[in-house]
Amino acid sequence: MRRTSLLAGLAAAGLVLAACGGDDGDEGATDEASGDVEVFTWWADGGEKAGLDGMVSVFETECPDFTFVNGAVAGGAGSNAKQVLASRLQTNEPPDTFQAHAGGELTDYIEADQIEDVSDLYEEFGLNEAFPEGLLESITVDGSIYSVPANIHRANIVWANPSVLEGAGLSTEAPASVDAWLADLETLRSSGIEAPLAIATDWTQTMLLEAVLIAELGADGYAELYDGGDWSGSDVTAALEKYGQLLGYTNADRSSLDWPDALNYVTAGQAAYTLMGDWVAANLDLEGLAAPDDYVYWPAPGTDGTYQWLADSFVLPVGAPNAAGTECWLEVVGSADGQREFNVAKGSIPARTDAEPADYPPYQQSAMEDWAQDTLAPSLAHGSAAAIGWIDAMNSAVGQFGSNGDVAQFQEALVAAAESQAG
Ligand code: GAL
Repeated sequence: MRRTSLLAGLAAAGLVLAACGGDDGDEGATDEASGDVEVFTWWADGGEKAGLDGMVSVFETECPDFTFVNGAVAGGAGSNAKQVLASRLQTNEPPDTFQAHAGGELTDYIEADQIEDVSDLYEEFGLNEAFPEGLLESITVDGSIYSVPANIHRANIVWANPSVLEGAGLSTEAPASVDAWLADLETLRSSGIEAPLAIATDWTQTMLLEAVLIAELGADGYAELYDGGDWSGSDVTAALEKYGQLLGYTNADRSSLDWPDALNYVTAGQAAYTLMGDWVAANLDLEGLAAPDDYVYWPAPGTDGTYQWLADSFVLPVGAPNAAGTECWLEVVGSADGQREFNVAKGSIPARTDAEPADYPPYQQSAMEDWAQDTLAPSLAHGSAAAIGWIDAMNSAVGQFGSNGDVAQFQEALVAAAESQAG
């Protein structure tokens, strides 16, 4: 899979340019030869870092002329990275490639001409055949594709501690609905678990809200909300009220925590559940924990049969310092080897259709089965549903609701967020 003609051509051009510089042994020539490729992500620790390391190992084999440079900025869901990236793009200092979610989240970068159309690379790498048609459709904008997906993650999963559930006399099976879950939460509290549902900062609360919206409105009703649907309806009001009740069972220190902290409450037995994307599976693996003895997981109550998906993808920024190196990175990202080494360690499943389930841990095997048969729904918190402006507006509305508990004001903020994006 080694890059052949194009890269050889570009590398040769680089050498020619360096040679034309004329000053022998100069710094420019050294830079050219070093072939650094800065890969900007928010995968700094735990299973996220392990996934990145897996991809890098393939990059080192397949792209030996280039050197991986880790540009990671820690903070779940890019909570810090996205701001750092925005200012670098504004000052025309892009990394060689950056992580972004496939779908709506790419809109702003595309409209601001900050990322290149990589459709040609799809042809060259055979990606039009490797990825499922539905995914290709969802990432095609006016006939062009701007990123290479590395994986598919699932957002609507609850991770639970079976000992805590059993300690309160509960089954380890999924409650059938949000109402049934609320009843279990009350049972847990009565048994002495004060904050049975562990959660973290605003974007994790957005995930909980989205799971409730899917449960209460159905996958289609939920998806419509991001496609001209009505956020002011009484069905949304009722869902917001239930979300508020769930929030009443969460930890008071939530706004200062990141997702691994909430997960730690569960594994330590201080909480029974956390709702989080399946990058959790990677952290649990790293801790040597296994289902179903150490943890159980199920689709968020009321969302069974819906796969709330998101895809991490990589782009070629306009003005990337080492475009040839980026192209080699993107080829690895889209390749069978790259996707396997990345996803086995990351908790996600490959975006490619030719993966071998037996190569993957049990969680991913079950996710592959669900992915093949479930109804798909997008994630706002993780960019498959809408643009960054909407994500920010939602996270800020959710954060405010967390402090004032005012459902009417919350709903107005969500209506305003939708209107500002539509118009
Ligand atoms: C998501 C990303 C995942 C994982 C998660 C937590 O936005 O798609 O790969 O990194 O954030 O940080």
